[in-house]
Amino acid sequence: MIALGSDHAGFEYKEHLKKLLVELGRPYQDFGTSSAASVDYPDFAHVVSKAVASGKNQFGILICGTGIGMSIVANKHKGIRAAVCESIESAKLSREHNDANVLCIGARITSWETAEEIVKTFLTTPFSGGKRHMYRIEKIHSLTGL
Ligand code: RB5
Repeated sequence: MIALGSDHAGFEYKEHLKKLLVELGRPYQDFGTSSAASVDYPDFAHVVSKAVASGKNQFGILICGTGIGMSIVANKHKGIRAAVCESIESAKLSREHNDANVLCIGARITSWETAEEIVKTFLTTPFSGGKRHMYRIEKIHSLTGL
């Protein structure tokens, strides 16, 4: 189950994303926002990150204007590895090297066509695993306590 969240700037992309996930046969849970009315991105990043950190949701996808605010909030949650991805390559590497569990997209930065490919890549790319990457990921959490 994929946890989705956006603010007003990401609302339209989130609605497109829900259709894409239905096409891909990937179940989702929508944590809002539910309209294009102005809201605060930390509220949505917080609930989605909590859902992923608790293990209820395998991945989270957060969309705001830049993806940056969402990623800042998400990465303050224990167990979250959020990546702002603006390219297919960064989406691939965020999974392979960082085992990212939250994808952040900027609707004012990235076209929907690219965002669609970023999402598909993120959801289908496995973590490479192996000593080198595992060790570094463990360090992220042990050094920060998060
Ligand atoms: C909202 O205007 C904007 O600040 C927000 O969507 C996001 O880009 C923050 O990082």
